[in-house]
Amino acid sequence: MERNQIAVEIHVIALPFPAQGHINPMLQFSKRLASKGLKVTLVTFLENENLTKLPKHSSNITIESISDNNAVISTVEEYWKNFSSMVEQKLVEMVEKQNKFGKHMRSCLVYDSIIPWALDIAKQLGLSAASFFTQSCAVSAIYYHVREGKINVPIEQDFVSLEGMPQLESHDLPSSRYNSEDQPSFISLMTGQFSNLKDVDWIVFSSFNSLEEEVMNWLATQYPIKLVGPTIPSRYLDNRLEDDDDDDYGLSLFKSNTKTLIEWLDSKETSSVVYVAFGSLAALGEKQMEEVANGLKRSDYHFLWVVRESEEKKLPQNFVDETSDRGLVVGWCPQLEILSHKSVGCFITHCGWNSTLEALSLGVPMVAMPQWGDQLTNAKFVTDVWRVGVRVKVNVEGLVSKEEIDWCIRQVMEGEPANEIRKNSEKWKNLARVAVGEGGSSDMNIDEFVKQLQSYWN
Ligand code: UDX
Repeated sequence: MERNQIAVEIHVIALPFPAQGHINPMLQFSKRLASKGLKVTLVTFLENENLTKLPKHSSNITIESISDNNAVISTVEEYWKNFSSMVEQKLVEMVEKQNKFGKHMRSCLVYDSIIPWALDIAKQLGLSAASFFTQSCAVSAIYYHVREGKINVPIEQDFVSLEGMPQLESHDLPSSRYNSEDQPSFISLMTGQFSNLKDVDWIVFSSFNSLEEEVMNWLATQYPIKLVGPTIPSRYLDNRLEDDDDDDYGLSLFKSNTKTLIEWLDSKETSSVVYVAFGSLAALGEKQMEEVANGLKRSDYHFLWVVRESEEKKLPQNFVDETSDRGLVVGWCPQLEILSHKSVGCFITHCGWNSTLEALSLGVPMVAMPQWGDQLTNAKFVTDVWRVGVRVKVNVEGLVSKEEIDWCIRQVMEGEPANEIRKNSEKWKNLARVAVGEGGSSDMNIDEFVKQLQSYWN
């Protein structure tokens, strides 16, 4: 640096898509960046009633909220239009403030990959930019191949072979949350992640090298990607971030009663509880809820089942009372506290990418019950690549029966197959720690990103 030249201070503006499965990994990545000395502001877009619950700071990170001003939204198009204009307004405001009060500060926008238009705003405002993927490299590679016209989803043949991946059948490929009519718009949203990726300064993934080595290596032949995960609070992994506190739950879109849950788990034997949760968005049909309920009843295990408030009415009548000596049904829980509790022996999961990474990193065997989107591909990897669980079979009526649920629980809780799964789970748990630990692949990727950011403006 030349004499009299003042060093610039780097400011990261982290912009997650406003859903729980996107806010969580972005917050954790932000914490890692803050721990390396960067100033970070996390921009969230929450409903007004949630704004009051938001902490102003979470582990050295400033939280900036966007209000939707009670906008009346009736179509998907209107939602996106309103969302992008709110984001633009907020970013302009933040950059103007910075230009006025923080003349030596330079910003980088780390935006969620599913909002690629954020890159245009960043460029207009003179910011550098990183696209942050909250899904696996494998799923991203599939979307890339679809965009390039190599495959269609759904596929017309029995299976497809793609670089760095096992053979994938139709039920292993991503699908829309709703129905086949919605599939084209779902696929176009997902392939859109690659629309301007050649123009972005950095591409980061919430995954880690050893977990997805083959497909990561292939994707790296197309884009300069960096894997920075697992994006899980340090206190559950490497325990290196001193100020890694409980503030994360302040960014939860749902409320839970932690104390009662932990006390209940404390009273159970090691690896004796089945934890059941389907993330923040998946909604099972009423018949499917009944099969899950009866499957849990059939198995002899204690269970903790997260049924969000919006889903409660689908529970069979009297189920909660009838099973109260064996199980707990709650509206939401601190999932990482549950997965890291010694009493939890298996996780019946929809295989959202965060839940998958969390179970892998905490060594909890899984019963994979994917619903839509990337969950189908994640389930394939859980069972056939990482071998840390079994996948439920769907019957001719399109349901997973109570017998199947009971059988799958036993496969991961008892006998020889369970031993093998537990051994593999332990292996990935250790590798996850190695990745984020000092000198691990994700730690070094984060260091490199920070170094490049610092030299970007000098
Ligand atoms: C969605 C998609 O399903 C997922 O595949 C995609 O990659 C991100 O967006 P979601 O369905 O909510 O997310 O699932 P998941 O990715 O598993 O994220 C849920 C998050 O909520 C996890 O971090 C989990 O720990 C947390 N959670 C879930 C709780 O804290 N408490 C709960 O009771 C349930």
